[in-house]
Amino acid sequence: MLEIKNITKRYQKGSEAFTALDNVSLRIKKGDFMAVTGASGAGKSTLLNAIGGLIHPDSGEVLFNGKDIYKQKSKVTDEYRKNHIGFMFQQFHLMPYLTVLDNIRLACYEKHQLDSINNYLERCSLAGLKNKYPSELSVGEKQRTAFIRAIISTPAILLADEPTGNLDPVNSSILMVLVEDYHKNGGTVVLVSHDPLVAKYANRNITLEMGKILSS
Ligand SMILES: Nc1ncnc2c1ncn2[C@@H]1O[C@H](COP(=O)(O)OP(=O)(O)OP(=O)(O)O)[C@@H](O)[C@H]1O
Ligand SMILES: [Mg+2]
Repeated sequence: MLEIKNITKRYQKGSEAFTALDNVSLRIKKGDFMAVTGASGAGKSTLLNAIGGLIHPDSGEVLFNGKDIYKQKSKVTDEYRKNHIGFMFQQFHLMPYLTVLDNIRLACYEKHQLDSINNYLERCSLAGLKNKYPSELSVGEKQRTAFIRAIISTPAILLADEPTGNLDPVNSSILMVLVEDYHKNGGTVVLVSHDPLVAKYANRNITLEMGKILSS
């Protein structure tokens, strides 16, 4: 489904070039549930962004069903992101001028999803907050809103960057049950987490160190 071939991404840090991803190769099959761990700065978010069509690597390829998402016309890359990827950002990136409900509806294409949204809001203890704006939410509430937005359209691939980083144990396990349900229904998950309990849900684990895959 996804093949990452020898991708390298460098950033300029002052006068030095810094290698955030160093020749990383990886295959992700349909139905995989992969956890990505590694120290802060190891390149986890950079890898997730590259897989999600958001960071163009300096070299290498990200192939989705055999086609390089970065070598296509931009419309094809847009459609890859829109039709196949659900992305939960480490910094959430909720729209500040939209309510919880409208932030989630942004990611929906069909009206009948309202029932499904309400079901997720209920399960994530957000039903009473659906008309609030992000600035009125706690960090954990923003995180759960961002999660629902990522999963609501049942994407083929869910990319989640530290999805439980700000959640208490109860909300963390509620969210992981939802990820598990999505996975059991055929979804493919790539999840970045520092939490060993969260990584246990995965059936594949990789660790990044200084932009390289240590183990897989
Ligand atoms: N836009 C950027 N410009 C310069 N350097 C960057 C940029 N984005 C990331 N980096 C650097 O690349 C390295 C990898 O960053 P990345 O965000 O992928 O780390 P991470 O493993 O997700 O860390 P964390 O666990 O803290 O989220 C870091 O050293 C970071 O400072
Ligand atoms: Mg990160």
